[in-house]
Amino acid sequence: MTAMAPVPPTRRIAAVRARRVWDSRGRPTVEVDVETESGTRGRAIAPAGASTGSGEAVDLRDGGPAFGGLDVRRAIGGIEREIAPALRGLDVADQAALDARMIELDGTPDRSRLGGNALVATSMAIAYAAAAARGLPLWAALADGGPAVLPLPEIQVFGGGAHAGGRLDLQDFMVVAVGADDWRTALDRTAEVYRAAGRLLVEAGRLQGVADEGGFWPAFDDNEQALTMLVRAIEAAGLRPGEDVAISLDIAASNFGRGGRYRLARADGTPRELASAELAELLLGWLRRYPIVSIEDPLAEDDPDGLAAFTAAAGPRVQVVLDDAVVTSAARIRAHAARGAGNAALIKPNQAGTLTESLAALEATRALDWDAIVSARSGETEDTTIVHLAVGWGVRQLKVGSFSRSERMAKWNEGLRIGESLAGGFALPPPSAFRWR
Ligand code: PGA
Ligand code: ZN
Repeated sequence: MTAMAPVPPTRRIAAVRARRVWDSRGRPTVEVDVETESGTRGRAIAPAGASTGSGEAVDLRDGGPAFGGLDVRRAIGGIEREIAPALRGLDVADQAALDARMIELDGTPDRSRLGGNALVATSMAIAYAAAAARGLPLWAALADGGPAVLPLPEIQVFGGGAHAGGRLDLQDFMVVAVGADDWRTALDRTAEVYRAAGRLLVEAGRLQGVADEGGFWPAFDDNEQALTMLVRAIEAAGLRPGEDVAISLDIAASNFGRGGRYRLARADGTPRELASAELAELLLGWLRRYPIVSIEDPLAEDDPDGLAAFTAAAGPRVQVVLDDAVVTSAARIRAHAARGAGNAALIKPNQAGTLTESLAALEATRALDWDAIVSARSGETEDTTIVHLAVGWGVRQLKVGSFSRSERMAKWNEGLRIGESLAGGFALPPPSAFRWR
């Protein structure tokens, strides 16, 4: 494109509008509409985390008494007063330039002035508007003729940690349908495991409800009971643990560890403080005894040496996922890889703030031969952008939370629609695409 080429009206941004909507925890969040001069529109909603990494883009919240300080009127005001006029007239197809303009406008290293919530909703709405200008769904616009395949889902069965009032120390007990070769089968099997787990919990008198991401909120006496019941649920669903369906954990250790000390409320039924190496040994024992293929944030974000030691000890076939330590930052991913800490990263667009930065983080994982998992947040909405990102960017895994509550099901259901248009249909990446093969 020459510098002087006029932007066609289908691509010229006419308006950026923001409104306050509500997320799955009943908290205010930011929705943005980006409209071009020809009237096509993109729309997206910012998600929100609860167990956030310290290096994440910061959401702009109002503070004060209303809604626990979580209102987003300032973020909305910033979009209307600053972002909208700055983007008006620009080419909606130039995602990188528009994201760079917003980053420059914000002017802070952590996006705290205009807010990561304002930036990510706008950035995603831009992507939708650009796709609409081409008459394409978002996944197709992002894939741009390249291969587009549905990702292998990681689906939560039990929730704990910050998402369930600390009832369990660990945050996510998830299943991965490793033996499924298509999206629909993966969902079918997960649905059966989820049902079976619920039934087992009721029988054991340990069901307390559902946690923030829709997984069951169990009243277990220690963390390992969740693992044994998960294996029983897989079997009760008529599936083979490890072959049809395996286990994936998010320890979210930054929530209970600092300075290399980890305070578990339910280590083996009682509170215990563990050193980094002791927690690692506990987790490595689980890796030996249970069909676990992936483990996220096994040690805290301030414990890179512990993460490196754990990654080496777990071995090359276990996926060691970093979330809080790398917060969808290409530079942090490279720094951790250089120390041998982790071999996979979550990609959460709102941790970075823009799609351009999220894509840079994804490209960093690819250059390092790390695995990548596109991930939702614990606070979600009907927005399904992450499914389109996973398919369009060719990311092989997707983490959305559980198999209940519509803000989660909206994502699984979107995959059921997208698969109808893909060249390979509902096929998942081949088993050889994964570390645990
Ligand atoms: P969060 O949880 O959205 O509350 O950060 C998700 C995760 O830790 O992966
Ligand atoms: Zn996590």
